[in-house]
Amino acid sequence: DHTHADTLRTPIVAVLGHVDHGKTSLLDTIRGSAVSEGEAGAITQHIGATDIPLDTISGMAGELIDPSDFDLPGLLFIDTPGHHSFSTLRARGGALADIAVLVVDVNDGFQPQTEEAIDILRRTGTPFVVAANKVDTTPGWNPQDGEPIQKSMDAQSERAKSMLDENLYEIIGQLSDAGFSADLYWRVQDFQKNIGVVPLSALTGEGVPDLLTVLMGLSQRFMKEEMAIDVQGPGEGTVLEVKDERGFGATVDTVVYDGVIRNGDQIVVGGQNEPIVTEVRALLRPRPLAEIRTEKEFEKVGEIGAAAGVKIAAPDLDQAMAGAPVRVVRDRTVDEVVEEVKAELAEIEVDTAENGVVVKADTLGSLEAMANALREAEVPILRAEVGDIAPRDIAVAETANQDEHKAILGFNVDLLQNAESDLENADVKLFKNEVIYQLVEDYERYVEEKQR
Ligand code: GTP
Ligand code: MG
Repeated sequence: DHTHADTLRTPIVAVLGHVDHGKTSLLDTIRGSAVSEGEAGAITQHIGATDIPLDTISGMAGELIDPSDFDLPGLLFIDTPGHHSFSTLRARGGALADIAVLVVDVNDGFQPQTEEAIDILRRTGTPFVVAANKVDTTPGWNPQDGEPIQKSMDAQSERAKSMLDENLYEIIGQLSDAGFSADLYWRVQDFQKNIGVVPLSALTGEGVPDLLTVLMGLSQRFMKEEMAIDVQGPGEGTVLEVKDERGFGATVDTVVYDGVIRNGDQIVVGGQNEPIVTEVRALLRPRPLAEIRTEKEFEKVGEIGAAAGVKIAAPDLDQAMAGAPVRVVRDRTVDEVVEEVKAELAEIEVDTAENGVVVKADTLGSLEAMANALREAEVPILRAEVGDIAPRDIAVAETANQDEHKAILGFNVDLLQNAESDLENADVKLFKNEVIYQLVEDYERYVEEKQR
């Protein structure tokens, strides 16, 4: 029955895995983009979102998919960071997801953040498949660009095939150690009982048709009932980023994971001081296949249903916080929804101490990642906030008892113009970096030199 096509929710697929195992590259291959190459320090530090329509999926999957078998509109992929500091973003990405792809470098096998991702998937009960990535690095590999994996395997020497097999069985063994019975995906009968492993290469695209086929099959078969729920309810989402957009002022890039959001809707958005109550002025949708993190050309739409990435333009969003909830009020009271948003924000607070440094970051997720990294480095935090560095932050940093704590660590934020002279006149050291671990290392080096 295909008449449901526009009432089913697009499934959300989280891509999880250890740093550098190829999550962003895999999405780049599916999108035909090069997001990975543009990243600072070559690591992902934000959650991203990309809508992949059914025809793109069936186009890539070729003979493996018959699009008339599916009535889901496509898949919304959520890219997550693999670097160890970003546990909260992985947890949030995992919690948002209906299904997940666990990316594992076929040579490296399970690594610490692979284990962490598995824990998240187990905790949230999210069905997943394993992408055994980088098969092209097998010695003697004969690449078969964009082909299904069986075809590619047939083109390999016995030696290359057996080397790959060894690595694949290693991963299957590691999955079994983690409590999951797994097998190569073409041997799996019941994807609810067994985890399918899909050998592939994000670089050459071989095996990617298989992954898309397995994902569509999984969503269609096991998620359809869940996907049909509440598509017309009040929209719920999470802010990915707050950005200035010419002609609109501050806007929020948002993943809508439930319900529908319409132009003119009253919404509540988590803000730096208190929840912001405002009205949607414009809904701007990224083009299909575009990563919302890097998209420049948005299309104005009257409404947008879950799951989707959307840029929301509304007054008073300049104090909105990345990582915070967005809720449509619709037929509830504003107070009720404000309380909901407050309760959700209360769950994501950073522990602070009597003494320590001041931390500023661009999103709630990166703020938490900074807090994790600093806790590991045993650096106490006096104050941690989302936003650019303001005169008040310098005043707070100056109150630190120890000289080494008279410091501000800014991740992906700017020094506000009106704070420049304050900083010059204050005995406060400012550290800014776009890569979290480098920021922490810079600070540690400074403390070491001071103690000499
Ligand atoms: P984080 O987001 O920082 O966790 O990393 P990631 O998992 O997104 O990894 P990314 O896609 O940025 O890739 C890391 C490196 O591996 C890059 O240099 C890629 O070019 C390379 N790479 C990814 N997939 C493949 C593959 O299939 N084959 C080969 N040879 N290299 C790959
Ligand atoms: Mg990445």
